[in-house]
Amino acid sequence: MRITLRVILSIFVVISAIVLLFTFLQVEQEKERMTLDLERRASILGESLKESIEPLVAKGQTSSIQKIVNKFGNRERLAGVAIYDAKGHMAAASAQLPPHLKTPPALAANAMKTGLEEGNFLPLGEKEMYLHALPLYHEEKLAGAMVMVYETKQIKDRVAHIWENNFIRLLVSALFISLTTLLVIRWSMVHPIARMAEWMKTLRTEKGGVTLPPPSGKVFEPLAREATRMVKSISEARSAAEQEARLRRKAESLWTPVRLREHVRTLLQGRPLFVISNREPYVHERRGKKIECVVPASGLVTALEPILQSCGGTWLAHGSGDADREVVDEGDKIRVPPEDPQYLLKRVWLTKEEEEGYYYGFSNEGLWPLCHIAHTRPVFRAEDWNFYEAVNQKFAQATLAELENTQDPWILVQDYHFALFPRMIKEKRPDARVALFWHIPWPNPESFGICPWQREILHGMLGADLIGFHVQFHCNNFLETVDRALESRIDWENFTAERENHLTQVKPFPISIAAPQPSPAFRSLNGGLKKTLLRELGIRGQYLGVGVDRIDYTKGLRERFLAIERFLEKYPIYQGVFTFVELGAPSRTHIKEYRDLTALLESEAERINWRFQTKEWRPIVFLKRHHSHREIAPFYEAADLCLVTSLHDGMNLVAKEFIGAKWDESGVLILSQFTGAARELRDALVVNPYDTEQMAEAIRLALEMDPAEKRARMRRMREAVQEKNIYRWAGDLISSLSQIRLSSAPPLGISAPYSPSRPMILPGDG
Ligand code: G6P
Repeated sequence: MRITLRVILSIFVVISAIVLLFTFLQVEQEKERMTLDLERRASILGESLKESIEPLVAKGQTSSIQKIVNKFGNRERLAGVAIYDAKGHMAAASAQLPPHLKTPPALAANAMKTGLEEGNFLPLGEKEMYLHALPLYHEEKLAGAMVMVYETKQIKDRVAHIWENNFIRLLVSALFISLTTLLVIRWSMVHPIARMAEWMKTLRTEKGGVTLPPPSGKVFEPLAREATRMVKSISEARSAAEQEARLRRKAESLWTPVRLREHVRTLLQGRPLFVISNREPYVHERRGKKIECVVPASGLVTALEPILQSCGGTWLAHGSGDADREVVDEGDKIRVPPEDPQYLLKRVWLTKEEEEGYYYGFSNEGLWPLCHIAHTRPVFRAEDWNFYEAVNQKFAQATLAELENTQDPWILVQDYHFALFPRMIKEKRPDARVALFWHIPWPNPESFGICPWQREILHGMLGADLIGFHVQFHCNNFLETVDRALESRIDWENFTAERENHLTQVKPFPISIAAPQPSPAFRSLNGGLKKTLLRELGIRGQYLGVGVDRIDYTKGLRERFLAIERFLEKYPIYQGVFTFVELGAPSRTHIKEYRDLTALLESEAERINWRFQTKEWRPIVFLKRHHSHREIAPFYEAADLCLVTSLHDGMNLVAKEFIGAKWDESGVLILSQFTGAARELRDALVVNPYDTEQMAEAIRLALEMDPAEKRARMRRMREAVQEKNIYRWAGDLISSLSQIRLSSAPPLGISAPYSPSRPMILPGDG
């Protein structure tokens, strides 16, 4: 039986039972009221007749009695009156009374016996009548009895009327309630469920990423949320399976989160995994009374977060958010991601001085410009170096505490903030497998050689069992630097460096991204997304270019703006139709170079806009704030081109994110030749960011490229990014780490203590 029918039937049964019960009670009440009324009437009539009849009965004057009876016997509802003498003989009676009242009915005999009035319903012939008897006295002696007989038709009619009325009411209300229920069920259940089912179907069967928006309404919100998650994982699994199938044909196999998890599990055999980085994957910030959880703009975080999500483990990082302390437990830990916790984030706290010296100072004013050839002079201060050492030590201690009850842990150390950390750990825990991944470029030995602490840095790094860079070129530069600066044995065939009986393998691992998902805006707007984004920015335009960067002098942002200016100058036809949106995340603003850069970019954007803008259009939109991945995705999806113009970059994941988001294989990537990504993404338009003319030409070419060629290039790049994804990166890194034979030598530094004091460089040394 259909649910609606079942609901309506149940409602009907319940209403009927209620109406029946109430009608029954009402009828009983009404009967009682009408009986009392009859009793009262009979009593009044009896009292008024009594006085004139009593002496007549006593004297046996039947004809006089009959006259009185005839006179009163036909009152309203009264069927008749019968008078009996004391012996029970009928003295007179109304003519219409039934014959069996010739003898007094039992209640008349009773009234004579008890001397009390009495009334009751009795069947007379075919009808039921109400009989009321009262004794008659004369001179205090019983003289007989009077019986008044009343019709009961009125009571019966009334009862029937009540039943009838209530039955109609029952029908009408059952009808209305059923109809309302039906409508309510339709509106709030059947219809939304049908929509929900339809929505889930489009999610399940979506082709080309187009789906309906989820059904609205509070009731279905949790269901829609769960379904979205479920469908997301199904579609991830499906796209992974599809890709795997496709790649299997090419005798390759795709790395997925599940495959990585299995791979890591097999290699780790229950041993714990730790990640160490300066930047944490989730920052808790106070916004008024609320605490907001923000994913920071960092290529490192973009890459490593999916790995921890699929493999679990512990991530130690600097707790830099102003509400970070409020959300951790007593061990300074919190499970993340907040909406679906998969691993532990342990926060390490730094003092202001430590942050200033280690992070802003040595890491970002020293090593960052040192490793990036971007013409910003590195600053090396002795006090910064001391803080750098101290913070590396602090992180090492925090990690060692975590390692206390573990055996053979695996530690993945991230980036230039922790050059000294690998050796600090290995000295205490030679059983740990330590990999250091350097996310930024490594310059040639001459450039690196200007660092006053280059030997300490290299010595610290060579504590690791494995050192990874994005590209082979950086590995070469690193080993050459070690060769020149430290006493060590370099094996150029196997790419290892041996120092103090410890072997370090150096290998390239080109980092990448996880498989993204289409944004909800893309799913719902598809072709209309670009117009919507431009409209929201107050711009009427036709072409959209996008750039996504931390505001950093290595990213070539000024060069980018100049190229856009040159492009519009050279090809005025694009004035009024091409807009470039830069989603720039303010970064390291405590450092003067970064503040100056932001001011310079603002004024450049303003200058160029002023030169070309019209009432409804401007060439550059510089959105200077942190944007979440969710906010960035629609820009990637809608853009005709993406500009990645770094002056020097380890890899640059924005290039890969843009490609990953091009579901419809549209768009062109313009990519600096000085990024690691340029070595993999051969189908991008590779440019020299210092060459303004060339970049302006690349923008024109990107906009005017034959659509078929665009698609072919994008398809090839998408395949490359999908195949060499972040799971493969992690799989390769962890496989390489597992293949390393840990030396059985005593802990590092015990056999030959390293003197951290700086050696004098003598002429000819090196
Ligand atoms: C680069 C570095 C990362 C760093 C990121 C953001 O990608 O390689 O280690 O996290 O920039 O910089 P920030 O200083 O904000 O962490």
